[in-house]
Amino acid sequence: MNFNKFKKIVEDTRCTRRFKSSYNINKDDLIDLINLARQTSSGKNMQPLKYAIITDDIIKDEIYKPLIWAAHLKDWEQNKYEKPSAYILLINDTSIDGFCAIDSGIAMQTIMLGAKTKGLSGCMMASIDKEKYKNILKLENNLEPMFIIALGICNEKIKIVNTKNNDTNYYRDKDDNHCVPKKSLKEVLIYDN
Ligand SMILES: Cc1cc2nc3c(=O)[nH]c(=O)nc-3n(C[C@H](O)[C@H](O)[C@H](O)COP(=O)(O)O)c2cc1C
Repeated sequence: MNFNKFKKIVEDTRCTRRFKSSYNINKDDLIDLINLARQTSSGKNMQPLKYAIITDDIIKDEIYKPLIWAAHLKDWEQNKYEKPSAYILLINDTSIDGFCAIDSGIAMQTIMLGAKTKGLSGCMMASIDKEKYKNILKLENNLEPMFIIALGICNEKIKIVNTKNNDTNYYRDKDDNHCVPKKSLKEVLIYDN
């Protein structure tokens, strides 16, 4: 793969919140994604992260309830036809002295990129109910849910746009595209001598 192909995958890997709920994700695809994530870099190589795959309809309903979708979009709520097909939960083993938040970011982006290459889209989410999830999945005390990735088939158009007046809030434009403002290279590259 050359740089331009990789660049396109990165650009296309956007957090998605309108899925085709009727789609059933193949469990092997989810296992492939976790198999990728487990090979990513880890602070001190301590690898505190564990993963849970959630595809069962009843458990999915419970996992879904606390999630907050697109807090910036005040006049939109995800409807039942837009729900994700599956979830991957990232779990920190607190008995391991690692860098779980940083490792989670690396793992989540890797899962998102891998999902894109499989024709899937995802949304990384922090708005989880850790205690509830612990109970649902009957996790041992040292296992703490960290983040969840909702996965499915994308059913919306998402575009990167330039920020205006430093406003980074995402929005929907008049054609219902989900627009994600990103800071320019000039704004983020602050030293290049
Ligand atoms: C750590 C983290 C937590 C997030 N939590 C949520 C969330 O709870 N709900 C949600 O709708 N989006 C969540 N997002 C998605 C962000 O809103 C999204 O990344 C941002 O709008 C930029 O869009 P992009 O990912 O397409 O670049 C989260 C993203 C990250 C990285």
